[in-house]
Amino acid sequence: MIRANEHYKKLKASYLFSDIAKRVSAFSKQNPHREIIRLGIGDVTKALPSVCIDAFHRAVDEMAEDATFRGYGPEQGYDFLRQKIALVDFQARGVQIEADEIFISDGAKCDTGNIQELFAHDITIAIPDPVYPVYVDTNVMAGRTGENIDGRYGGLVYLESTEANGFVPALPDKPVDLIYLCFPNNPTGATASREQLKQWVDYAFKHKALILFDAAYECFIREADIPHSIFEIDGADEVAIEFRSLSKSAGFTGTRCAFTVIPKKCRVFDSQAMPVSLHPLWLRRQTTKFNGVSYPVQRAAEAVYSPEGQRQSRELTDYYLRNAGLIIDKMTALGFSCTGGVNAPYIWIKSTMDSWKIFDLLLEKAGVVCTPGSGFGTCGESYIRISAFNSYENVVKAMERIGMALS
Ligand code: MLT
Repeated sequence: MIRANEHYKKLKASYLFSDIAKRVSAFSKQNPHREIIRLGIGDVTKALPSVCIDAFHRAVDEMAEDATFRGYGPEQGYDFLRQKIALVDFQARGVQIEADEIFISDGAKCDTGNIQELFAHDITIAIPDPVYPVYVDTNVMAGRTGENIDGRYGGLVYLESTEANGFVPALPDKPVDLIYLCFPNNPTGATASREQLKQWVDYAFKHKALILFDAAYECFIREADIPHSIFEIDGADEVAIEFRSLSKSAGFTGTRCAFTVIPKKCRVFDSQAMPVSLHPLWLRRQTTKFNGVSYPVQRAAEAVYSPEGQRQSRELTDYYLRNAGLIIDKMTALGFSCTGGVNAPYIWIKSTMDSWKIFDLLLEKAGVVCTPGSGFGTCGESYIRISAFNSYENVVKAMERIGMALS
């Protein structure tokens, strides 16, 4: 008898953003003439930078000739891309990350989900609340949690990110083995200072823990003193790995290209408490289960790292940050307290209503889709997240409609 993985039964029926998509689609069917503005899932709306499109075209042409055609590529990514990333994203900022410590992939979502298969089953995991749901759900699927009771899974250590702590959680009050951190944060848009990240690195050394640092929104950092990478903290290369993505930095949500940085020094431990290097484990995993990102996509990604590509992708993130500024201004003027939106494309908005009730209200009265904060965890209750990913014109319209709906 083939038996199912019963841990799936512990999950909510559907993934947060699928759930929202279903509700929006049901609303659209019932109200076919209502124009809906989507500020829910963080999906980019602007075209790829032209440097990427040119590189894409050239690479497709190479695939059309036997002489330049490419078959299987290296599972960990082509050197031409890994070298540029190491140089531009890290070495140019004074961070010593080498090209062979970078693993190209098709998404930070997949990598943050897949990485936990390198860890023992009975580890203690600390997860912020609110949080990008992928970190929690993938651990539930792997059977590392108990049942969900009142919105929290047994066995996980929740790190509360609240207004009181500026949405940067305190260190856990008990030892944990694996820590998920995301800065600039999804969903709150909060950032962590160098001193705050250093505390986490110190904690990881003290408790022989590992930090999974999600820096997918690093490209939105505008304030000078905010660290762009956990590896800016001394010693972090022994106790942390970092996830990055071109989805939001260069509009690759549909094109798919991301990378994970696993420094050669980074260690976990075996059952005898002897250090084990993580890098060869991930290399083994990727070469076994992944066939790499397509050649034209990697050439398009490489173009992002040219001087013109850096300029064009900065223009994209500036565009969305302008939207974010407008959302903050308008929601603040309506009397809401807002965080984020300065170094992140998300604005985390506090209200006095149940998250899903505001979601329904904004959808029904304003035709605007947001994300209910409770979908990110119990600390998100009575918050909503508004994403800045849409055209400026649509954001202006959405804010006008929200103003009317709430007045
Ligand atoms: C979000 O809206 O939180 C993100 O778009 C989800 C993702 O990047 O997978």
